[in-house]
Amino acid sequence: MPATPDPKTLAAFEGAKGFMPLDEGLALYAAAVEAGKLGLPLLEVGTYCGRSTVLLADAARAAGVSALTVDHHRGSEEQQPGWDYHDPETVDPEVGLMDTLPLFRRTLFRAGLEDHVIALVGRSPQIAAIWNSPLALVFIDGGHTDEHATADYEGWAPHIAEDGLLVIHDVFPHPEDEFTGQAPYRVYLRALASGAFTEIPATGSLRVLRRTEAGVRGRG
Ligand SMILES: C[S@@+](CC[C@H](N)C(=O)[O-])C[C@H]1O[C@@H](n2cnc3c(N)ncnc32)[C@H](O)[C@@H]1O
Repeated sequence: MPATPDPKTLAAFEGAKGFMPLDEGLALYAAAVEAGKLGLPLLEVGTYCGRSTVLLADAARAAGVSALTVDHHRGSEEQQPGWDYHDPETVDPEVGLMDTLPLFRRTLFRAGLEDHVIALVGRSPQIAAIWNSPLALVFIDGGHTDEHATADYEGWAPHIAEDGLLVIHDVFPHPEDEFTGQAPYRVYLRALASGAFTEIPATGSLRVLRRTEAGVRGRG
């Protein structure tokens, strides 16, 4: 039987704002449990309000590793005021900008998983540029433009250890199915074309690739 998250984790997942359906969340969790066996940290790009983070954190707790999650907490393009994915409750009225960090911290607290997560608050390429240690899993769910998705792939995929997993969200091969653009699909194709990854079955718009070879090309 596949491993399932703690009921408290699932309640926090369901209670958090976010875009991930439960079936994809369970597939992400299963990937995280498997990757956790490598004994290395799990990293997410795109925390938002912590909906997917709690699943990684639950798997990290079970594996005795940390879950790292990267976000500037100012929202992606499509989450800004006037766009389809905007939620007014994510705006800090004092500064007039989105700030999902307090909502994320609430989600994590509710899940009882604060001790298992390191939040990296900043721009993904800036953090990746100073990162220098191997990761068991990289989950890409940050900005959905080509610029951001490509930078996330180039910045983080080279740090995936052999047998580690690259998980990409919102992969839509058919333009008519996509809501936020096809940049994640192009990143997925690029990862496969690198020859460094082998795909394993996943669910919905989630794709899970195992790093089986060297040869992930980073920036340049
Ligand atoms: C689709 S949401 C993440 C959803 C979350 N994984 C979940 O399942 O609920 C994308 C997030 O990526 C963040 N983001 C976008 N571009 C970024 C960048 N260049 N660096 C850091 N965070 C970024 C946004 O602030 C936003 O919170």
